[in-house]
Amino acid sequence: MQPLSRSHMNQIPIPFFGLALVLLVSLVSPTSSCTEQDKSSLLQLLAGFSRDGGLTASWRSNTDCCMWEGITCSSPSGMVTDIFLASRGLEGPISPFLGNLTGLLRLDMSRNSLSGGLPLELVQSTSIIVIDVSFNRLTGGLSELPSTAPVQPLQVLNISSNLFTGRFPSTIWRVMKSLVVLNASTNSFTGQIPTTPCVSSPSFSVLELSFNQFSGSVPRGLSNCTVLKLLSAGYNNLGGTLPEELFNITSLEKLSFPSNRLEGALDGINKLTNLVTLDLGGNELSGNIPESIGDLKRLEELHLEHNNMSGELPTTLSNCTNLVTIDLKSNYFSGKLTKVNFSNLPNLTKLDLLYNRLTGKIPDSIYSCSKLTALRLSCNRFYGPLSERIGNLKSLSFLSVYNMSLTNITRTLQILRSSRSLSILLIGLNFMHESMPEDDNINGFEKLHVISMESCSLSGTIPDWLLKLTNLEILSLNNNRLSGPIPDWISSLNFLFYLDISNNNITGKIPTTLTEMPMVKSEKTQAHLDPSVFPLPIYRGGLEYRKPNVSTGLLDLSNNKLTGEIPLEIGQLKSLYSLNLSFNDLTGQIPISICNLTNLYVLDLSDNNLTGAIPLALNSLHFLSRFNISNNDLEGPIPSGGQFDTFETSSFDGNNKLCGSMLIHKCGSAKAPPATITPTKLSDYKAAFLIAFSAFFGVGVLYDQIVLSRYYFSWYYIIIRV
Ligand SMILES: *[C@@H]1O[C@H](CO)[C@@H](O)[C@H](O)[C@H]1NC(C)=O
Ligand SMILES: *[C@@H]1O[C@H](CO)[C@@H](O)[C@H](O)[C@H]1NC(C)=O
Ligand SMILES: *[C@@H]1O[C@H](CO)[C@@H](O)[C@H](O)[C@H]1NC(C)=O
Ligand SMILES: *[C@@H]1O[C@H](CO)[C@@H](O)[C@H](O)[C@H]1NC(C)=O
Ligand SMILES: *[C@@H]1O[C@H](CO)[C@@H](O)[C@H](O)[C@H]1NC(C)=O
Ligand SMILES: *[C@@H]1O[C@H](CO)[C@@H](O)[C@H](O)[C@H]1NC(C)=O
Ligand SMILES: *[C@@H]1O[C@H](CO)[C@@H](O)[C@H](O)[C@H]1NC(C)=O
Ligand SMILES: *[C@@H]1O[C@H](CO)[C@@H](O)[C@H](O)[C@H]1NC(C)=O
Ligand SMILES: *[C@@H]1O[C@H](CO)[C@@H](O)[C@H](O)[C@H]1NC(C)=O
Ligand SMILES: *[C@@H]1O[C@H](CO)[C@@H](O)[C@H](O)[C@H]1NC(C)=O
Ligand SMILES: *[C@@H]1O[C@H](CO)[C@@H](O)[C@H](O)[C@H]1NC(C)=O
Ligand SMILES: *[C@@H]1O[C@H](CO)[C@@H](O)[C@H](O)[C@H]1NC(C)=O
Repeated sequence: MQPLSRSHMNQIPIPFFGLALVLLVSLVSPTSSCTEQDKSSLLQLLAGFSRDGGLTASWRSNTDCCMWEGITCSSPSGMVTDIFLASRGLEGPISPFLGNLTGLLRLDMSRNSLSGGLPLELVQSTSIIVIDVSFNRLTGGLSELPSTAPVQPLQVLNISSNLFTGRFPSTIWRVMKSLVVLNASTNSFTGQIPTTPCVSSPSFSVLELSFNQFSGSVPRGLSNCTVLKLLSAGYNNLGGTLPEELFNITSLEKLSFPSNRLEGALDGINKLTNLVTLDLGGNELSGNIPESIGDLKRLEELHLEHNNMSGELPTTLSNCTNLVTIDLKSNYFSGKLTKVNFSNLPNLTKLDLLYNRLTGKIPDSIYSCSKLTALRLSCNRFYGPLSERIGNLKSLSFLSVYNMSLTNITRTLQILRSSRSLSILLIGLNFMHESMPEDDNINGFEKLHVISMESCSLSGTIPDWLLKLTNLEILSLNNNRLSGPIPDWISSLNFLFYLDISNNNITGKIPTTLTEMPMVKSEKTQAHLDPSVFPLPIYRGGLEYRKPNVSTGLLDLSNNKLTGEIPLEIGQLKSLYSLNLSFNDLTGQIPISICNLTNLYVLDLSDNNLTGAIPLALNSLHFLSRFNISNNDLEGPIPSGGQFDTFETSSFDGNNKLCGSMLIHKCGSAKAPPATITPTKLSDYKAAFLIAFSAFFGVGVLYDQIVLSRYYFSWYYIIIRV
């Protein structure tokens, strides 16, 4: 059919015009109309989907495919140039017929549930310049191409976040002479990092391979990538040292290899004068930060955390005047921090020095970094005091100064009050043997979500001024010498879901109001903490990063002098993840309502004077993994089935009247043998977290939800202590 010319159309009568219009709209669009071959290829694609996200409504065979949803054609040729089908809920394979669209330039089918392989016909296309099939469930490997394959114009290939496996074939890259970006992150590729694109594609500038299983060392051949800007292969199994040749790629702006097993020193890094981001955290690097680091004038992100690095921090660090983040935690850096002049770093927003051996005073120059949002100095050999100038840090939201020999808690809180943005304040293991300020004048801290004043041997009571911290979510006062009762106002802290007052001298009953804590009563609690400050880990569960969807409530009242019965209403605290009432003088029965706490992972009631039977329905708590009721006066049978088949007998020790198949004392037998007493130590619990913490950094990928939440919590608890 010939398209009608405009001049001809003006002369034709109205009824015929109407018909022609219908024809025009349906078949021959005035701008362009798609070719039969393109249309049939697209219909083949559609036919292959098991879920098409409603595309059939628009992709009708009797209409112009250039008008279909997600399709763009060139004008006037009518060739399909763009297929944009991102986030449409598509399921099924990518049809090889797409290779027949000879004018196709860009294909975006990201964020669907596409399965099967990436068709070779597509990769071999002589027209496509951008392929984005990221965030799908594509499987298999990339195929070798015949050596006779024509040169391909492909510039951007994003196959990240899929289920691809196998080695990277080398031939495929030889014909991609225009390749600029290769993004294959978050798959299961194995073998060596490919270097062929460096040789064959003169414009190759982005190589993103993080979250795979690449192994071997960083290949020397990468230095053939002379215009490479981004090289990223974190979370793989790379070993060996960084090759000297790497430091010859002076075009590099981002070098990122976190969580591998790289070793050796950083000498030579100063040649990469265009670096903006250097991320080598979570490796086995040693040696010091070279003096020459000062040559990296554009450096903004410096991540060397969790390595084996040592030595003093070079004064020249202050020559990297554009630094935004310095993360050196968990290394062996020593010497005085005052060597670095922080007043030269006006853009510094995060400084993390946790777990090192740095000494001396907190440098005054830190207080001139007015953009600082997070400062973590804990677990070094620093000493106080904090300066009043901390009030200059108007954006400071995270401050961790655990174990820094600070004195005068009253004064310190007065100083910190001027830091109006504080959200997380960790000041434990300081102020030894001082008394908890009871002063009603302590105010400010409106934005505080987390406060930890643990392990300070503070005397006094749980102070009333805490009541004014209306946004408080996490309160940690454990390991002090606080006495008096748990105040009734505790339940008026509407967001509180984590209360640790263990190891004190708290007396009285467990107040019923405690069981009214709103956030712990609601089924799901998630911290409202600003994740951008010090992000909690987000795990990778197969396809995408995610935060485990778990309850986070904690109530730890252990090692106090609480008396009376456990209130029946405790069963309302639905979001409890951990309930520890051990080492008190509680009497009465274990309330049956505890069986309603279906999210419980830890239940410790040991070393009290509890009597009566163990509620049999406790075996329905599927997540319960740490259970201890030893050293009480309980009687009767131990529940069986469920999690109860996994607990050690030590969980029940010291209850002479208990019986069960796992004990020497079988139910029905007359004589109770003497039970052995195993002391339970709270410190074991904490140690377990430390171990889990280190395991997290070694493990990286965790799929199972329970394991997931276990590691999540170990990290969480560390973060809110130090
Ligand atoms: C289209 O592609 C398919 C599969 O790649 C192929 O079998 C077929 O011959 C092609 N059709 C045309 C008309 O080119
Ligand atoms: C895929 O990668 C390309 C290039 O790196 C990027 O532009 C694009 O946004 C990515 N796609 C998605 C869905 O993130
Ligand atoms: C790689 O693709 C992912 C989407 O899967 C995207 O988030 C990321 O930014 C891309 N990386 C680069 C370097 O373009
Ligand atoms: C760079 O590419 C050339 C040509 O393929 C090759 O001979 C050389 O070994 C490569 N360089 C390195 C350091 O591998
Ligand atoms: C780095 O580049 C310089 C100059 O281009 C060259 O002389 C040197 O041999 C290269 N070093 C390595 C290890 O490739
Ligand atoms: C860490 O470095 C020290 C020397 O500073 C060395 O003795 C030790 O073996 C290193 N450990 C690892 C795991 O590389
Ligand atoms: C580095 O900074 C110091 C002052 O901190 C200055 O004297 C020196 O000239 C700087 N060096 C370079 C190379 O900029
Ligand atoms: C700091 O950040 C600002 C704004 O992002 C930028 O203009 C400036 O160049 C950066 N560097 C220094 C040293 O101020
Ligand atoms: C602590 O500081 C307060 C107020 O800043 C002061 O009144 C008090 O004397 C100080 N206490 C000690 C023991 O220095
Ligand atoms: C707890 O209080 C008692 C007196 O009631 C006192 O003897 C004991 O030393 C206190 N324990 C701690 C750890 O403060
Ligand atoms: C458990 O919760 C349900 C619903 O919230 C309630 O009806 C029931 O009484 C509770 N059971 C106990 C033993 O408290
Ligand atoms: C708890 O039991 C122990 C030993 O059975 C007893 O000495 C103590 O008086 C009891 N305490 C309370 C508060 O009942």
